[in-house]
Amino acid sequence: MSTAIITTSVEQTMALGRLLGDLAPPGACIALDGILGAGKTQLVRGMAVGAQVEDCSLVCSPTYCLLNIYRADARRTGSKTLYHLDAYRVLDADQFAAVGFEELLEQRGLVVLEWASRVPSLLPHDHLAIVGTVEAEFSRRWCMRAGGPVSHRLLETAAAVWSQRSAND
Ligand SMILES: Nc1ncnc2c1ncn2[C@@H]1O[C@H](COP(=O)(O)OP(=O)(O)OP(=O)(O)O)[C@@H](O)[C@H]1O
Ligand SMILES: [Mg+2]
Repeated sequence: MSTAIITTSVEQTMALGRLLGDLAPPGACIALDGILGAGKTQLVRGMAVGAQVEDCSLVCSPTYCLLNIYRADARRTGSKTLYHLDAYRVLDADQFAAVGFEELLEQRGLVVLEWASRVPSLLPHDHLAIVGTVEAEFSRRWCMRAGGPVSHRLLETAAAVWSQRSAND
């Protein structure tokens, strides 16, 4: 299954991220791609809010440290730890193996990887692939494709909620 959603502001991109972060089941993997400035980190900021991490105001690009961890808030049911990775400066998949990527996938949190196409061999088959493109100054197109049943369900539900909301606006 694949679908495309257009956002026309940073706030809308964050709202899309929030929806995905909320609906993503524990253990889900989301792979982000798109040029510099496409808005991947903005989308992840929204995901942190949706996943109800402890301090979602801290989310920034992990470009220089490969991995940022935002802990689940123990006081909230449904809260998930967000593992935010960035493969932009990664030389090869081994560097990612070194941060324990495989283990992260087993933590029942939400694993989100920017520049995922640089390490395709590491991605689990069942991941949600999202590619962001710049349509205009404030307009972004998010092409999303599900790789297996878990990401399919996530994408189907998110797309349905999004179109319902858009129809109500
Ligand atoms: N609709 C939009 N959605 C997201 N970002 C937008 C939008 N419109 C404008 N922007 C701007 O685009 C930039 C996106 O930056 P962001 O760091 O999220 O990109 P990125 O894809 O993570 O880049 P990088 O590959 O460098 O990490 C921000 O400056 C943001 O203000
Ligand atoms: Mg980024």
